[in-house]
Amino acid sequence: MITSQLLAYVAISVLCVCKASSLDTFIAAVYEHAVVLPNATLTPVSQEEALLLMNRNLDLLEGAITSAAKQGAHIIVTPEDGIYGWNFSRDSLYPYLEDIPDPQVNWIPCNNPNRFGHTPVQDRLSCLAKDNSIYVVANIGDKKPCNASDPQCPPDGRYQYNTDVVFDSEGKLVARYHKQNLFLGEDQFNAPKEPEVVTFNTTFGSFGIFTCFDILFHDPAVTLVTDFHVDTILFPTAWMNVLPHLSAIEFHSAWAMGMGVNFLASNIHYPSNRMTGSGIYAPDSPRAFHYDMKTEEGKLLLSQLDSHPHRPAVVNWTSYASSVEALSMGNQEFKNTVFFDEFTFFELTEVTGNYTVCQKDLCCHLSYKMSEKRADEVYALGAFDGLHTVEGSYYLQVCTLLKCKTTDLHTCGDSVETASTRFDMFSLSGTFGTQHVFPEVLLSEIQLAPGEFQVSSDGRLFSLTPPSGPVLTVTLYGRLYEKDRASNASSHLTAQALGDRLGD
Ligand SMILES: *[C@@H]1O[C@H](CO)[C@@H](O)[C@H](O)[C@H]1NC(C)=O
Ligand SMILES: *[C@@H]1O[C@H](CO)[C@@H](O)[C@H](O)[C@H]1NC(C)=O
Ligand SMILES: *[C@@H]1O[C@H](CO)[C@@H](O)[C@H](O)[C@H]1NC(C)=O
Ligand SMILES: *[C@@H]1O[C@H](CO)[C@@H](O)[C@H](O)[C@H]1NC(C)=O
Ligand SMILES: *[C@@H]1O[C@H](CO)[C@@H](O)[C@H](O)[C@H]1NC(C)=O
Ligand SMILES: *[C@@H]1O[C@H](CO)[C@@H](O)[C@H](O)[C@H]1NC(C)=O
Ligand SMILES: *[C@@H]1O[C@H](CO)[C@@H](O)[C@H](O)[C@H]1NC(C)=O
Repeated sequence: MITSQLLAYVAISVLCVCKASSLDTFIAAVYEHAVVLPNATLTPVSQEEALLLMNRNLDLLEGAITSAAKQGAHIIVTPEDGIYGWNFSRDSLYPYLEDIPDPQVNWIPCNNPNRFGHTPVQDRLSCLAKDNSIYVVANIGDKKPCNASDPQCPPDGRYQYNTDVVFDSEGKLVARYHKQNLFLGEDQFNAPKEPEVVTFNTTFGSFGIFTCFDILFHDPAVTLVTDFHVDTILFPTAWMNVLPHLSAIEFHSAWAMGMGVNFLASNIHYPSNRMTGSGIYAPDSPRAFHYDMKTEEGKLLLSQLDSHPHRPAVVNWTSYASSVEALSMGNQEFKNTVFFDEFTFFELTEVTGNYTVCQKDLCCHLSYKMSEKRADEVYALGAFDGLHTVEGSYYLQVCTLLKCKTTDLHTCGDSVETASTRFDMFSLSGTFGTQHVFPEVLLSEIQLAPGEFQVSSDGRLFSLTPPSGPVLTVTLYGRLYEKDRASNASSHLTAQALGDRLGD
């Protein structure tokens, strides 16, 4: 009798403990950080000088971390390159690097700062997490010595990694991720030999992490969601906006929706490099976002999210479009380049219509109604099915409705930030050969449209209400990862040259 009562009591209290310690929702924070850049990035400085610069950035991050914690945030993400910037050589980066151990060592740097050598940045991040009882996500550089016993060891005898670290609310190192898909000009870093799939569990869901350019590729990004079923992605980035399809808030929110995960994107704030655009995105809709080309200030965003977001129904991305009878637009079609890729376009000359444009295996179908057809603005429906080979090599299928930069059709696909044409409705679909399609809606002045559109299970991206602002683009950005292959087409292109070409 007593025993069974006791057992019941124990069972109940265990239940209660479980309930109390697992949260249905949590508060996420991301900080868009106006990074303090070193004056010299090509000549090596002393370790002391490097630390001075990193501490100036950590002072700013500390302000954001303490403020986020005071407002109840459980976790805060800070940007890639947010502690020392970019544009280094291997040698000039070296004084900024620390040896970052595998989290399995079970280490709280704040309590035990000398356990793995001189690690002042990890010590400070760990103390910020511990003292404020908040998970802190940051991006720093890892160094790992190697020698001739490893045939791939670089000539300078070390690997250098672009690395995300996560410290839990007790200051413990719980995740370390080495960036896989390095961007142009990141010659100061090595990529790991195999993609690293890094996850960790909390009382507010399971987390995966990757960095910036990784988002365009299958590993580890897609694997984290489809095989490891994480609830939330942590995404430090130093993202240069590229219109019409790859501005930060536009593409990152689309990835969250397309993959059905929470997504915490923290970007650098550096408008002269077109770096701005951070956000907290749930699968159904953005919860908070920030885009600011006008000021030099950083910005803290907070929002509540579900710990285990509701996974949307599986979408058949070809179902609706393949049921539409395609009328050939014949000689009214034209070709134009969008971010180096040649799209097939059709001009939307009417105030309303149903049109189809095809390229290779992809046919894109659009139903739309504008509030009025303005004489001073041109919109086009475009399709692209091919391998993009410029700053990286990745196979795309894209259906897009976009505003042309001017009324000259040769400007369709050029970067444009404002529009005046309002739409009453749109519905876009395509005969995609992939399940990985990212739905984008971008309004005039680089604004998102939370709650104003949806994706149906038969693969239509459609407006729920007339969009709240003039439309820049409505796009289904599809990736065919299995058709990716290494490209040597443009290996001479540097980040600087790319920036110059985009800057005009
Ligand atoms: C760069 O140099 C200027 C002028 O000497 C100085 O005011 C500034 O603090 C330096 N910045 C850094 C990050 O050292
Ligand atoms: C990198 O540094 C070099 C030399 O200081 C400078 O000319 C170049 O503009 C810098 N590039 C970027 C992208 O900041
Ligand atoms: C070379 O590297 C391996 C693996 O890191 C290590 O075990 C070995 O001691 C090193 N050898 C020398 C001569 O430093
Ligand atoms: C997180 O929890 C899940 C489910 O309980 C488990 O399968 C997974 O291995 C855990 N991941 C880590 C990194 O502990
Ligand atoms: C998607 O829809 C198309 C056209 O209705 C159909 O042929 C195909 O089998 C569907 N795909 C899946 C995975 O259900
Ligand atoms: C476009 O198609 C829809 C649905 O098939 C139809 O209701 C609508 O009348 C069509 N609009 C035009 C302008 O043809
Ligand atoms: C690399 O370039 C060569 C010469 O231009 C070309 O023949 C080859 O197909 C290219 N390889 C890839 C993978 O694009």
